[in-house]
Amino acid sequence: MAFWNRLKPIEAAHAPEGPHTLKRTLSWPHLIALGVGAIVGAGIYALIGQGAGMAGPGVILSFAIAGVVCACAALCYAELAAMMPASGSAYTYSYAALGELIAWIVGWALILEYTVVVSAVAVGWSGYAAGFLNGAGVAIPQTLPFGELGGFQLHFNPLAVFIIFAVAGLLVLGTRESANVNAVLVALKIAALILFLVLTLPHFDAARFEPFAPFGYGATRVGDGNVGIMAAAAIMFFAFYGFDAVSTAAEEAKNPSRDLAIGIVGSMIVCTILYMLVGAAAVGAMNFQDFAASGEPIALIVRSLGYPQAAAIIGAAAIIAIPTVILAFLYGQSRIFFVMARDGLLPRSWAHVHSKLGTPVFITLFTAVVCSALAGLLTLGEIAALANAGTLAAFVAVAVSVLVLRARDPGRARPFRTPLAWIVAPLAILGCLYLFSSLSLTTMRLFFIWMAIGLPLYFLWGAWRSTLAKTAAH
Ligand code: ALA
Repeated sequence: MAFWNRLKPIEAAHAPEGPHTLKRTLSWPHLIALGVGAIVGAGIYALIGQGAGMAGPGVILSFAIAGVVCACAALCYAELAAMMPASGSAYTYSYAALGELIAWIVGWALILEYTVVVSAVAVGWSGYAAGFLNGAGVAIPQTLPFGELGGFQLHFNPLAVFIIFAVAGLLVLGTRESANVNAVLVALKIAALILFLVLTLPHFDAARFEPFAPFGYGATRVGDGNVGIMAAAAIMFFAFYGFDAVSTAAEEAKNPSRDLAIGIVGSMIVCTILYMLVGAAAVGAMNFQDFAASGEPIALIVRSLGYPQAAAIIGAAAIIAIPTVILAFLYGQSRIFFVMARDGLLPRSWAHVHSKLGTPVFITLFTAVVCSALAGLLTLGEIAALANAGTLAAFVAVAVSVLVLRARDPGRARPFRTPLAWIVAPLAILGCLYLFSSLSLTTMRLFFIWMAIGLPLYFLWGAWRSTLAKTAAH
């Protein structure tokens, strides 16, 4: 079988039955909590400043656009997650729908996404941690510059490195967040944002929304970067993803066909509404230029409105709860590696699980080292943009997979069907491509360099050694 038509049978993407089957304990409220736990993080707490700096008050519209594109992609995810409830997310779906080569490309893009998201969220977290520690009289700078390499300013971000290794340590020791702990942390994150809304409401001034789009509606290139509402949408897209974490719980869902879809789409709706409210409240309470460069904009706004204690509470909630996003993505990363290695597209030894701890120690620590380096090298905006590039590529593949499987295998049971699939999936594809084209040139360059490294690796390794290649040879 040639690599371009090596498809993984859909049946192979079902959870294995037997003694290693996970217990089905989660129903849809848990799954929505899991989704919101992985979604709400550095995007709304930290990156919103950068988004507002790029779009002005029109950042509200950026949220709406990114939310709609993500919702379309989420509906596509839901169909495939219910059809193929197994680990691996977009990689697994593409393997069944589009073949091994595309699956490799998607997996490679997911590795980029997950690694870079961990760095970005850690940098976002470090802004709040530094703010909190400074407030308590401990002066730790968010970044320490130490020279330049090829035009890049090099930094060391001690707090980001700390949180990455703390979370990686928990994962190595086998601590999987329990659904109950997750629910408490999710409640904390949301409560802090609601406190923000309540405190900023009395200071709301509609005049701050004029002019609404000072940098225009599109994406205008300024040097290597860009500004405008679409450019901000391409960045704020970061705040929305993580809902695919819900699909990783497919094997533990009580009623996967119904609850997965509710979990994925429900968590998207909750977050979109919340983000638009927080965005409107932030811009309405303070001139956007005054919080655009802050590492902790939500706390800064509340502090400068005269509520230092509330700012400290919001900061503390962010510090305690944001690491759940790091945990979700570091965990997801190890599972992507695991599934790709099990399929033979990466060295099988990478899927090695420590005999005593029962966790993939090597790959978790390796990821932590790479994430820590990135957290010091790039700014939050740059890292988030790179994560977005990888995610947008994966979302396009998922939407295409839905259409391909609808055409090729229309009779297969689909516990959840994307509504108006022939409109929603093309909208997801076009929306993602448009957002991709609104990213900065630097981001696109880095993304294509990553892809240029990945493609030869497939032909040197996976194309010959994948499980499917070996099966076909026998
Ligand atoms: N959506 C996640 C966040 O905002 C990645 O941190």
